[in-house]
Amino acid sequence: MPQISSPHNARLREIRRLSRRRQDRERAGRFVAEGEDLLASADAHGWTAIERYAADGSGLPGVTVAPELLAAASELGSGTRALAVYPTRYAPAPVGPLAVYLHGVRDPGNIGTVLRGAEAFGAACVVLGPGCADPFGPKAVRASMGAIFAVPVARAGALGELPGTTIALDARAERSLAEVCASHRPPAPGRNPQPLSLLVGGERAGLPQEILEGADERARIPIATDSLNAAMAATVALYELTRMAAG
Ligand SMILES: C[S@@+](CC[C@H](N)C(=O)[O-])C[C@H]1O[C@@H](n2cnc3c(N)ncnc32)[C@H](O)[C@@H]1O
Repeated sequence: MPQISSPHNARLREIRRLSRRRQDRERAGRFVAEGEDLLASADAHGWTAIERYAADGSGLPGVTVAPELLAAASELGSGTRALAVYPTRYAPAPVGPLAVYLHGVRDPGNIGTVLRGAEAFGAACVVLGPGCADPFGPKAVRASMGAIFAVPVARAGALGELPGTTIALDARAERSLAEVCASHRPPAPGRNPQPLSLLVGGERAGLPQEILEGADERARIPIATDSLNAAMAATVALYELTRMAAG
């Protein structure tokens, strides 16, 4: 017999609220992660769940819930066997040596994908500027593939808060990222890291003029079309920095 078997259960209703509304997440300071892989990532990075739920009969740890009720509380089309509620966590300030700053990135999938790229390439944090989607929303958490638990997320309101040299990624910049990086050696293991922040703009508007003008450098990723998606640009730039640091 599952511990939760009523569709009107208050804890299930709270899970649905946290998943569906940013305001509710912000008010409660909590968010939901779904699926065994994400929960395993939370465990691996030392996050303790406030509450953990598992489909009855799954053998997974947590308060047992009738499988169809857990599926109904899930934001995944296919349902889920496990979900958990965690405290939202922001780093007190952006940290280097390598930070990715997002400005006006409204698509939560892009926020999650940037977190995933940041983890893959060893960035120290992802910094959210004004107008960004909630990194703790279900689409961002899912797209991060667990990186939300691995990469510190900070907020910043001004360029001066970012670590090191600020490089605005701009498809119309004169110099390529490789040229710009040649004069600012990226952080590398065993070398004195030169801190860098990569600045990435939103899907439609890109980086605002004041950020483009206020950054130390502007850099272009050479491509055959007009522009890349924000998360693609961040990932390619992180790869380029890693490649240059190794070379
Ligand atoms: C979809 S693009 C924004 C397009 C916007 N219409 C513009 O003109 O900037 C989102 C962000 O990705 C980065 N980006 C996209 N393509 C890039 C490229 N080829 N080189 C450097 N950054 C790029 C920029 O930071 C840009 O603000």
